[in-house]
Amino acid sequence: MTNWQELEKKYYMQTFERLPVTLVRGKGPYVWDDEGREYLDFVGGWAVTTLGHCHPALTKALTEQANLLIQTSNQYYTVPQLQLARLLVGNSCLDRVFFGNSGAEANEGAVKLARRYGQLNLNGAYEVITTLSSFHGRTLAMVAATGQPKFQQSYPPLPTGFVNVPFNDIEAIKSATTERTCAVMIEPIQGEGGVNLPDEGYLPAIRKWCDQKGILLILDEIQTGVGRTGTLFAYEQYGVEPDIMTLAKGLAGGVPIGAILAKEKASVFVPGEHGSTFGGNPLACAAGYATVKFVIDNNIAGRVKEVGGYLIDRLEKMKPNYPAITDVRGRGLLVAIEFSDEIAQSLVTDCLERGLLVNKLKPNALRFMPPLIIGRKEVDEALAILDKALGVESKQQ
Ligand SMILES: Cc1ncc(COP(=O)(O)O)c(C=O)c1O
Repeated sequence: MTNWQELEKKYYMQTFERLPVTLVRGKGPYVWDDEGREYLDFVGGWAVTTLGHCHPALTKALTEQANLLIQTSNQYYTVPQLQLARLLVGNSCLDRVFFGNSGAEANEGAVKLARRYGQLNLNGAYEVITTLSSFHGRTLAMVAATGQPKFQQSYPPLPTGFVNVPFNDIEAIKSATTERTCAVMIEPIQGEGGVNLPDEGYLPAIRKWCDQKGILLILDEIQTGVGRTGTLFAYEQYGVEPDIMTLAKGLAGGVPIGAILAKEKASVFVPGEHGSTFGGNPLACAAGYATVKFVIDNNIAGRVKEVGGYLIDRLEKMKPNYPAITDVRGRGLLVAIEFSDEIAQSLVTDCLERGLLVNKLKPNALRFMPPLIIGRKEVDEALAILDKALGVESKQQ
């Protein structure tokens, strides 16, 4: 049998710390490795597999579109692109859409849009305020936007035009705002940075400040969007509307896509100012349309709220049994559990051996971001495994 892990060592750039399994197949919330072992997937392709693996609605849309038309240039009109654009606009507070291929690319486009807005309306203002422990992507500009030195330090000089301030500190945003500022860009809930929830009133205070200063509010909903937190978009839970919003990850259920959405006033690009070869292509947009339509038609966000509440509740109930658990936090099916010690890696390995995929968020924290179609049964199954792994861990302490 081919040793895929050896091939990876030889041929692939060594950028990922991988776990020792080769996944070959998936169905619903489960995946299987090349030796036929089954795993319950609570990583969900990093918060991507909205409908689980190979959902019939998604597979059907992809197969039909693959037989019809996969790619044209954006010089022509194509149907899935416009169907998806209309669906997103009709179900959000935004007015227009541009499609790209990934989260980082969507955020790059959002920053370009904000800079162009600054050029036209704010005397050339170009600076974007972002927060520490945020994550906005891996391109050079998004590394500069991302307020985490570990992602920045290997690539000097970083592009200028970004100011990183502490999260949940409205005064820091106010003091960082100058005549150069064109926008504040923020995740409603910081995902990669720790599943950090905004304090009560923080996002509305940013909205108010942006209005007062005439600058734009960009919400990066790449991780929180498309039902993940229990509403179609997280902003709905915080009483704010962004001027620009970015989506990617779960938008097409696993097919690469990114999107910039903007209110009419912020939608200032004119022909030639932005573009993409693949962005908005019929295949990705057919996948996006099938995914978002399924989420809306089946009230998946409402279901996420219920199942996510159950997950958090059950994790809270595990706390008294395991003093190492110091915090449980999250919204919907974006949930983290934090420990007093750096046990996340050994828990990930132990859970893997017992048939559960979970994500190491930090050395002392795990993250759960399963497909949005799971129910209480899968939560119970995952927590039975975690319980065993924690039992082993606490004996070793
Ligand atoms: C909030 C947020 N923004 C942007 C990105 C970057 O997305 P991508 O990896 O598709 O470029 C991520 C990825 O984790 C993210 O969580």
